[in-house]
Amino acid sequence: MSNSQIKNGILEGGSGKQGTQQERFEKVRTLVRPDSSQACVELASEVAALIRERQAESKNVVLGLATGSTPVPFYRELIRLHKEEGLTFSNVITFNLDEYYGLTRDHPESYFRFMHDQLFDYVDIPAEQIHIPDGTVAMEDVYDSCLEYERKIEAAGGLDLQILGIGRTGHIGFNEPGSAADSVTRMITLDRVTRQDAAADFLGVANVPRSAITMGVGTILKARRIVLMAWGSNKSEIVREAVEGEMTDRVSASFLQSHQNAVFLVDKAASSHLTRFRFPWLVGPVDWSADMMSRAVVWLSNKMGKPILKLVDEDYNEAGAGELLASTSEVAYQVNIDAFNRVQHTISGWPGGKPGADDTNRPERSTPHPKRVLVLSPEPADVFIGMGGTLDRLKEQGHDVTLVFQTSGNLRVGDAAALNFARVVLEMGEENKGEGWSVQREYAESIINALREKGEFGSDPELVRRLKGMILRGETRDAGSDCRLDADEIRFLDLPFYEKGRYRRFQPANEDRAGIAEILEEIRPDIIFATGDAGDPSSNQSICFQLFAEAFGSESAGPWRKNCNVWLYRGRDQAYEAHEIEMAVPMSPDQLGQKVGAIRKFMSTDDDDVSSPARNQEIASKYNDLGLAEYEAIEAFRKWSC
Ligand code: F6R
Repeated sequence: MSNSQIKNGILEGGSGKQGTQQERFEKVRTLVRPDSSQACVELASEVAALIRERQAESKNVVLGLATGSTPVPFYRELIRLHKEEGLTFSNVITFNLDEYYGLTRDHPESYFRFMHDQLFDYVDIPAEQIHIPDGTVAMEDVYDSCLEYERKIEAAGGLDLQILGIGRTGHIGFNEPGSAADSVTRMITLDRVTRQDAAADFLGVANVPRSAITMGVGTILKARRIVLMAWGSNKSEIVREAVEGEMTDRVSASFLQSHQNAVFLVDKAASSHLTRFRFPWLVGPVDWSADMMSRAVVWLSNKMGKPILKLVDEDYNEAGAGELLASTSEVAYQVNIDAFNRVQHTISGWPGGKPGADDTNRPERSTPHPKRVLVLSPEPADVFIGMGGTLDRLKEQGHDVTLVFQTSGNLRVGDAAALNFARVVLEMGEENKGEGWSVQREYAESIINALREKGEFGSDPELVRRLKGMILRGETRDAGSDCRLDADEIRFLDLPFYEKGRYRRFQPANEDRAGIAEILEEIRPDIIFATGDAGDPSSNQSICFQLFAEAFGSESAGPWRKNCNVWLYRGRDQAYEAHEIEMAVPMSPDQLGQKVGAIRKFMSTDDDDVSSPARNQEIASKYNDLGLAEYEAIEAFRKWSC
């Protein structure tokens, strides 16, 4: 790529890093941007420059493209550049990485459909320049068709630029663990984790295809340039493995380390496990604030397998953290005590503040009491997964709690639940043959017909979505009552972006912002609990958080906001690490059991997060390892400011 405009950019080339000491652990160039939109605007502008440069030379440009949530903001920006800045795709040839096996082109989750919905239908790319593996070829023809795909890439001149996302298994394309560095386009069996991650899109894991056709790792590595994008905290661990770990076929993205022109482009949340951010003292000089010190001590305690108060000077030196002691001219004993107290003070059984207590070392203030507490949950199960025990405590401690579900979550409800409900109504109609029942019977029949017509993969018509929403509301109220909440303390906003959309394709609008702003003004809370701040930006959780953040931060928000604390919890996203926690609410075995009971109330969905109680137990055992009291489980929170 000889383009002068993209010097010093994402596509600048070379395996070179920026040359800072901080990148010592990183084996491939890794660029961190504050958020996915900023990263995608930058990348799209460089890709546009490349397309234009090739146009000026009357040459084509061959792009390898990915699907999934990750590239969506990149495609949106390309569309904007086409519409508003005249970027033409007439000289662009594309090859997509993969396609589910067995899905026809018009299936709502086929990658053919996805690419057309997200990009091709909105730009002027000629249809014959688009290539996507065919998921419908007969099994006996798969081998030849894959070979043909490779030949077509070569005939086009090879890939100038390959765009990638990364799966939680470390896959690029659908190259699941075990894929060789020189693998080519072929059929592959999807990993369990990959199928689980696609479950929401397919309205249940059972509907997710078991295999796919994918370009090989070798096919990808032949591209002249590669950009792998990753957003959200759920990708942070696998990004670290791919960037800093050994090159291994257990993580196919790690093979990018061997490429001369590969770059990882990640947002802050996805970069958070890189050593330069997680353990900055290992890579260079740091500013030893109290927070940084306690992070380092927590890390040291983990590393040495010793409780904080048993660490000695030699431990600090041995682990390469001697600088910490030198910087404070303290002995380990004092540094340990300071760090221990900081962690100790995060523990509070009073998430809404303890009335009459001295607040100096408590995460939440004692006054006012009781507080108006607003708990936001993007979908019904999120709040119970993330803070079911804390919810119960807030109620028990007399606060005025309103639990607000931002979206109905109806896309997670299986057809079987709707069908069951309709059948019960029909049977009731049979038993009560009176006149009033004819309307109910008609309703039940139209539900049954609608389910039959749409088939297993079709989109639910509004009637069915509404019924599924009602079923979920019932379960939500049930779960709420396990946490002491009455039905009138639970509100459902049913934000329109969700009702009109599908997973990964939500388009929030002003009416959604207005919905959140209204509830904030109505409740004027003293405390808010929210989640989704570090999630995959296209997820429902992240969209709901952004909507909340915009409403909370808006000029028109009332004066109550100045005295309102916002606590973040983690639901489906990666759990907080010990050093990140600012409020740790302990749970007894009974409370944990109650939380499990609440999560189990979601019988109509197959996504109740059964591992969430185990995560709470894990946090408790980490605290215990640091030398703090041994609790059964802990729910963790961080304070947020806009
Ligand atoms: C899709 C693909 C996959 C995805 C990966 C991440 O064409 O090749 O490797 O990039 O599964 O998916 P998202 O972006 O949905 O997190």
